[in-house]
Amino acid sequence: MGVIVITGGSRGIGASAAEHCAQRGMGVILTYNSNADAAQSIVQRIESAGGKAVALKLDVADISSFEAFRETVKLTLQTNWGINTLSGLVNNAGYGLFNPLESITESQFDGLLNVHLKGPFFLTQALLSLMEEGASIVNLTSATTRVATAGVAPYAAFKGGLEVLTRYMAKEFGDRQIRANAVSPGAIRTELGGGLNDEFEALLVSQTALGRVGEPQDVARIIAMLLSEESGWINGQAIEVAGGYCI
Ligand SMILES: NC(=O)c1ccc[n+]([C@@H]2O[C@H](COP(=O)([O-])OP(=O)(O)OC[C@H]3O[C@@H](n4cnc5c(N)ncnc54)[C@H](OP(=O)(O)O)[C@@H]3O)[C@@H](O)[C@H]2O)c1
Repeated sequence: MGVIVITGGSRGIGASAAEHCAQRGMGVILTYNSNADAAQSIVQRIESAGGKAVALKLDVADISSFEAFRETVKLTLQTNWGINTLSGLVNNAGYGLFNPLESITESQFDGLLNVHLKGPFFLTQALLSLMEEGASIVNLTSATTRVATAGVAPYAAFKGGLEVLTRYMAKEFGDRQIRANAVSPGAIRTELGGGLNDEFEALLVSQTALGRVGEPQDVARIIAMLLSEESGWINGQAIEVAGGYCI
């Protein structure tokens, strides 16, 4: 098992994915943006369970920092694992923002674009030279690409773009045996967009066949599976992980 990078690994789905990947024997480089302490506590949880992880700072909207980040990843791989390559990348970092189409501002639009589409595009490009043959890329999209949800239009549109980009990654990286898949969660109990209030949760539960909202581990274990060899023939797919939301 090699070493993977998970962006936004300090909280929510990314933190849970980091733990699930470590349990499967992967080394984990998890990134945080503002919550260094939360990231460090995930590193400690992984290490006290016998795994190995390192937390690095990365703002996925700051494309100009990606070359330096690649050099830091390279050094981290050499120093902590004695290797030069990555076996996976999870483009997970993100944030939610509710604002109807008629009032969304250009800077809100650009902020969402940078984190949810432009960042994953150029971060993948920047880390490509470190990826080993057989590596796996997982991009976090959203069930809002399938079910229109008022108030999240740019977010959903960029997640839709990321889903299309996933197929292009699979196509263009296939000659290096690098796979790319999208994981598309339904509503998951995290702090995204301020978290779920009781009323919203009740609505989501009523719209979900399995009768509950998702927990971070519901998505994390699928991410870990897609990074593992057992999913080696799954490529270029978008897999919704939503308990049967709006079906
Ligand atoms: N929760 C859901 O219902 C749901 C549904 C569909 C899709 N998703 C997607 O799943 C992914 C994870 O969401 P989550 O629910 O786990 O969110 P979360 O609990 O709010 O955690 C977000 C993570 O992303 C990081 N992050 C935010 N902005 C960043 C930036 N500019 N640069 C780097 N890192 C940044 C945060 O880092 P810091 O804490 O260090 O700032 C944190 O680690 C996102 O892509 C989200 O769109 C979530």
